[in-house]
Amino acid sequence: MWFVQQFLLVFVFFLIFFKYLKLRWKARSLPPGPSPFPLIGNLWTMRFNLHPETFNKLTKHYGNMYTVWLGETPLIVLHGYKAVKNALVSHSEEMSGRPVTNLMADVSHGKGIVVSNGHSWRQQRRFGLMTLRNLGLGKRGLESRIQEEAQNLLEILAAQNGEPMDVSEFITHAVANVISAAVFGHRFSIDDPTFQKLVAINQELIEGLGSKWGILYDAFPWLMKRLPGPHQKIFKNQEFMYNFIRNEIRIHQQNESLEEPDDLIDHYLAQIAKTSGDPDSTFDTPNLLQVVVDLFTAGTESTAISLQWAILLMLAYPDIQENIHKEIDQVLQDSSAITYEDRKRLPYTNAVIHEIQRFGNIAAAGVIRRSVKDISLDGFSIKKDINILPNIDSVLHDPMYWETPYKFNPKHFLDKDGNFKPNEAFLPFSAGHRVCLGEQLARFELVIFVITLMRAFRFRLPKGVTEVNTNYVFKLTLQPYPYKVCIIQR
Ligand code: HEM
Repeated sequence: MWFVQQFLLVFVFFLIFFKYLKLRWKARSLPPGPSPFPLIGNLWTMRFNLHPETFNKLTKHYGNMYTVWLGETPLIVLHGYKAVKNALVSHSEEMSGRPVTNLMADVSHGKGIVVSNGHSWRQQRRFGLMTLRNLGLGKRGLESRIQEEAQNLLEILAAQNGEPMDVSEFITHAVANVISAAVFGHRFSIDDPTFQKLVAINQELIEGLGSKWGILYDAFPWLMKRLPGPHQKIFKNQEFMYNFIRNEIRIHQQNESLEEPDDLIDHYLAQIAKTSGDPDSTFDTPNLLQVVVDLFTAGTESTAISLQWAILLMLAYPDIQENIHKEIDQVLQDSSAITYEDRKRLPYTNAVIHEIQRFGNIAAAGVIRRSVKDISLDGFSIKKDINILPNIDSVLHDPMYWETPYKFNPKHFLDKDGNFKPNEAFLPFSAGHRVCLGEQLARFELVIFVITLMRAFRFRLPKGVTEVNTNYVFKLTLQPYPYKVCIIQR
């Protein structure tokens, strides 16, 4: 017995030592970074997540390009506008891969757009972009759907009669209805329990994917697959979303609306039929299910949280709110629906909307990419199939490009004469071949929702509340802490 114990101890010691040597060997050609431990890499020191503050600390020691280890997988982090832009724009093609993490492989099986790769990603992405374009962001397309949702939201908020309220759920439903119009061809009543469940499950799914449990699943799949825990809910939630979409597909097929396609499902079903004999085609039902999930998850939370930041920041900066009201009153003299074009006549308001996105930076450190070819970055030869994180947060707070990186300041987007001034380091949607697919739609939504609400309301703190917390909660996205607001009609 004693001998067996000693043998096991020595065996484990050598195993760990061997793992350590293997890590050092793998690390020899990578940019330097904090020393990894065998098996867990730097996960412990990173508190098992990709928190922007951890990266801010690491960059002070290791510069604008360094390696951290998520378990036994290296991740090269790029920090600041220059390093990120050089990688994303000058090496757009080489940087166009996405790591298929263990979790995502089991959740989405490499289908859809967000975590697919190669030929399938190219076909699905091109199709998604083309369909959004066909559905049209112009006057008679999605723009009018956004105006309709903004108007509905306005009526719901007005009905609260200035009582303190949490706006998050109403905003999320409004934004989810814009995506529903694009993919399902119809909106849902805000009281519809199935829709409420869909939105809630969608939120849970996103949170699950970005949680510590998700990261543990990626690092130790063989163990986590067998363990009970919150990570198991991710699979249940994904199945709920698939079943919901399967039902929508069935309704579309019964309605035979494919002759005159009116939404993404119509277009996609027509595409499956058109390419059925083509061996190169990746258009099939599993891809359709995941494309819809991708658009719904990527397109709802992101815009909804940006709008929650917008209202919170108006509470925190009443003088800025006042300036917007003045500009709107001077420029928009009639009561017709707000259009995307209106932003050009409202430079101050447009600057505030941009600053909300910069300051709120919902994408946190960004989404991990994977090299699909060897790349030379900042003197390092990075091999194919290495994970790389172009840290979006570090770009939106790069002190070389922003006068007051951690202070909300619309002057970041205004010249001395008060005209709107773009800033090249404004990359909340990332850049390159994998830039956010919904960027245009999101920009339309932010302009139309924010200006519609600001024209109609004043946002005030509830009685007795004197401070506004503008810190963020880190989930997969960076979100404001829950808050209440009194919404007063102007
Ligand atoms: C304020 C709103 C939004 C922000 C800040 C945002 C930001 C981002 C970011 C940072 C990425 C990662 C890009 C990369 O890999 O570097 C991304 C990807 C993506 N976004 Fe958005 N997004 C927003 C809204 C939307 C909307 C409304 C949709 C859907 C219509 C959408 C669909 C997608 C998709 C499908 C991808 C994956 C693209 C790919 O891998 O090829 N997003 N987004």
